[in-house]
Amino acid sequence: TRPSQVRIVEVGPRDGLQNEPVTLPVAVRASLIERLLAAGLTSIEVGSFVSPRWVPQMADTAAVMARLPPNPGGCYTVLVPNLQGFEAARAAGAGEVAVFAAASEAFSRANINCSIDESLARFAPVAAAARAAGIPLRGYVSCVLGCPYEGAVAPGAVAEVARRLVALGCREVSLGDTIGAGTPERARACVEAVALVVPPERLALHFHDTQGLALANIRACLDLGVSVVDAAVAGLGGCPYAAGATGNVATEAVVADFARLGIATGIDPARLTEAGRFVTRALARARAAPASG
Ligand code: HMG
Ligand code: MG
Repeated sequence: TRPSQVRIVEVGPRDGLQNEPVTLPVAVRASLIERLLAAGLTSIEVGSFVSPRWVPQMADTAAVMARLPPNPGGCYTVLVPNLQGFEAARAAGAGEVAVFAAASEAFSRANINCSIDESLARFAPVAAAARAAGIPLRGYVSCVLGCPYEGAVAPGAVAEVARRLVALGCREVSLGDTIGAGTPERARACVEAVALVVPPERLALHFHDTQGLALANIRACLDLGVSVVDAAVAGLGGCPYAAGATGNVATEAVVADFARLGIATGIDPARLTEAGRFVTRALARARAAPASG
C-alpha cells in the first residue's frame, strides 16, 4: 500500500543551482530557501562544501547559511565529499551532511575523482566525525538507473553501495537517477533490490526528469515502503558531471501528484509556486546580465 504521507526533501538550492551557468547572489539563494520554508518544506538541501574549482556555483554556501532563519522543525542539509567539506559544514552549522557515492566507477571518477572504494574509504572519517558531532548523515548513490559513461547499471551494484553507506552510518540513502534514464519497471526493480539490504523506510527517491518519466517512476515505487522523495522547485537541476542530465523532478509536480493520490506533504502549493517564480525570474535576470550577477 502507498504511504499516507511523504516527506519531500527540497534539493533545488543545491542540485538545481549547482548546474546553472550563472551563480546566483548569496542573498537571492537565501531568499529562495526562506520562501521554500514558508511553503512548508522543512528538509532543504541548501548547498555543498565541495571544491569551488569543480563547482563554483556552490562556493559561498557558508555565507548563504549565515543568512538563514532557524529551522527547528526540520533541517538544512549540505553535501560534503570529504573531511575538509565536513569541517566547513560543521562550522557553518549544518543540520545534516550528505556524502555522495556512485553505483558506476566511471561516474565516481568524473564526479569526485576517485573510485567507489576510495570514496567510501574517504567517507569513513566523515561519518566518524559526524557521529562525534551529533550531526546526522545522509548518503547518495548516483547512477542507480543508468550511467552517462557506462550505460546500464545492475540493481545489485546499487544495493551494494547503499548497504555500505548504511554500514558507515547513513540514516537515509537517496537513490539518484542522475541522468533520468529510468522507467517505472526498472525503478521498481532497483528499489526492490536495494530494499533487500536496506529497510525501505530508510530510502529516498531522487529522480531526474530527463525523459519526463520521473513522476511515473516515483509512483511505481510508492508501495514498496519508501516515503521520502527528493525534488527541486521549478524542476531546477541536473549534474555538472553528467552531460544531458536535466532537472530533478519539480517539487510542484510531486506535490500536485501526491494531492491527486491523497498523500499528504504539508506543502502549500501557492507559496511553492511563488518560490518557483522567484527563482526562475532571478535566473533569467542573472543570465541576461551575468557580469552584474
Ligand atoms: P580532487 O582534485 O581529487 O581533490 O577533487 P584533492 O583532495 O586533490 O584537492 C584538490 C583541491 O581541492 C585542493 O585545493 C583542496 O583544498 C580542494 P588546492 O590545494 O589545489 O588549492 N578541496 C576542497 N575545497 C573545498 N571544499 C572541499 C574540498 N576538498 C578538496 N570539500 C573533490 C576531489 C571531491 C574535492 C572534487 O572532485 C569535488 O569537489 N567534486 C564535487 C563534485 C560535485 O559537487 N558534484 C555535484 C554533486 S553530486 C550530484 O549532483 C549527484 C546527486 O544529486 C545525486 C544524483 O542525482 O545522482 C547528489
Ligand atoms: Mg541529483
